[in-house]
Amino acid sequence: MTYYFLGIKMKKILIINGPNLNLLGEREPEIYGHLTLEDIIKKIKEYIKNKDVEFKFFQSNHEGQIIDFLHENRKWADGILINPAALTHYSYSLRDAISGVALPTVEVHLSGISKREPFRRNSVIKDVCVAQVSGLGLGSYFKGLDILIREILKQNA
Ligand code: DQA
Repeated sequence: MTYYFLGIKMKKILIINGPNLNLLGEREPEIYGHLTLEDIIKKIKEYIKNKDVEFKFFQSNHEGQIIDFLHENRKWADGILINPAALTHYSYSLRDAISGVALPTVEVHLSGISKREPFRRNSVIKDVCVAQVSGLGLGSYFKGLDILIREILKQNA
């Protein structure tokens, strides 16, 4: 089903957060900041208010649940914004799920993963994404959304 608002096709985006991001706000605030995941969702909603976007938010601490969510929503969505958290660095099954559903995907991180511990510098997800944005805090989600929306428009043009 395609939804139109005032004649404009709505872009449907899955916004997914991986393990431990439910603890944002209390988890290592010196690295991840003071915003809770709820705050982030609220701010994303404000940010995309006028961008003709519909979204579904999902957070899980379980790799398989994230993969199931991707499978279940693959026909609904036009694109994916994902902070895979630690799965970024080792989850080949998440990588395969992202390439398998064949939707434009942007990987985002609050912290600057390229400047942290060596194991965080590698992303096994990056190659199956349109872009990776990191180190901008909440701004990573905003910039990631801008890139994703542009990509969806390009693919649907
Ligand atoms: C993170 C970075 C990952 O290395 C880490 O495991 C996270 C959060 C970030 O947003 O900066 O859980 O994805």
